[in-house]
Amino acid sequence: TNTHRIAVIAGDGIGKEVMPEGLRSLRAAADRYGFAVDAVEFDYASAEYYLQHGQMLPDGWFEELRGFDAIFFGAVGWPDVVPDHVSLWGSLLQFRRSFDQYVNLRPVRLLPGITSPLAGRKPGDVDFYVVRENTEGEYSSVGGRMFEGTDRETVIQDTVMTRTGVDRILRYAFDLAQKREKKHLTSATKSNGISITMPYWDERVEAMAAQYDGVRTDKFHIDILCANFVLHPDWFDVVVASNLFGDILSDLGPACTGTIGVAPSGNINPDRTFPSLFEPVHGSAPDIAGQGIANPVGQIWSASMMLEHLGEADAAAGILSAIESVLAAGGDALTRDLGGTGTTSSLGATIAAAIADR
Ligand code: NAD
Ligand code: IPM
Ligand code: MN
Repeated sequence: TNTHRIAVIAGDGIGKEVMPEGLRSLRAAADRYGFAVDAVEFDYASAEYYLQHGQMLPDGWFEELRGFDAIFFGAVGWPDVVPDHVSLWGSLLQFRRSFDQYVNLRPVRLLPGITSPLAGRKPGDVDFYVVRENTEGEYSSVGGRMFEGTDRETVIQDTVMTRTGVDRILRYAFDLAQKREKKHLTSATKSNGISITMPYWDERVEAMAAQYDGVRTDKFHIDILCANFVLHPDWFDVVVASNLFGDILSDLGPACTGTIGVAPSGNINPDRTFPSLFEPVHGSAPDIAGQGIANPVGQIWSASMMLEHLGEADAAAGILSAIESVLAAGGDALTRDLGGTGTTSSLGATIAAAIADR
């Protein structure tokens, strides 16, 4: 049998609660679909590790993780203990950049059994991908503070867009759009106000669009795009965005599908020179951590995306259809964010059982 070597990093807060459910479904899929998972757990990329070691990751993390087939990640961040920019730049953002995971692929789908907060919306009305640039853009380390402590105090952080960086995310998004039924690509821009980087982004979109005859292309400024996510979610198919815009859209989209707790993501290195990383879109949720009520679906759906990436298409589809059937049955099995009374582990166990029964 095929064995997939997976590095498992649960992180902080509800990351530690939803990860066991992600693993339970992953193992159920392995049994059902005939492959093996060699999962190795790491305690770093957590506030606890930081408190003990003064850094988020051990010095050898890059060599240690690079040999895995994929990284299965929970959530990191515990702002009461470690400032968020320290914990995130010291861990997750390092993984994305060092492993050149330049695509952040974030499906947004209204699942059966879930009531959208958008009145009258049914599954099928909300079914698109946010394709987020994941290694450059607004998330840059170029800049600094000047004249600190004086009244001239000034802070600058530059947005970085490279031809390679922009073109490779656009190419991925256009390729994806071309494979989809609607063949429709929307670009998120702000070239009316951000007058250097965003016009460049638009220019590269136009150049790429010229290579994809069959793909209908449009663009919206990010402000009205946010409004249209709410007013007309059915307009969208593949939405490509810079790092920051993609971050914002990928919480807004899932919120329109009932809860951010179900949203998965793949931080993908399409060239496969390094492992890709799969994680829910949500964070460590300190407000509900420790209560056992976090929705595990985002983590479990991320396992499905990971298996798709690893070539286990049937298992990936099996996990997704198990999620759909359990949510469609609804009722008390659902977690509180979906109006039910289920717990992280009860919902996780129900989905894992449904995978075994496929
Ligand atoms: P968050 O996603 O952790 O939580 C936002 C809200 O959504 C909270 O009310 C939370 O209870 C709810 N929520 C999130 N996931 C849920 C789930 N699975 N089930 C039910 N409810 C859920 O965002 P935040 O509060 O802005 O950030 C908290 C911490 O997480 C910060 O340290 C932040 O930097 C970090 N963070 C990490 C990641 C990541 O690891 N990829 C992503 C986002 C935020
Ligand atoms: C996400 C998160 C991260 C991001 C944070 C925690 C740095 O919000 O994965 O969406 O902004 O990319
Ligand atoms: Mn985010």
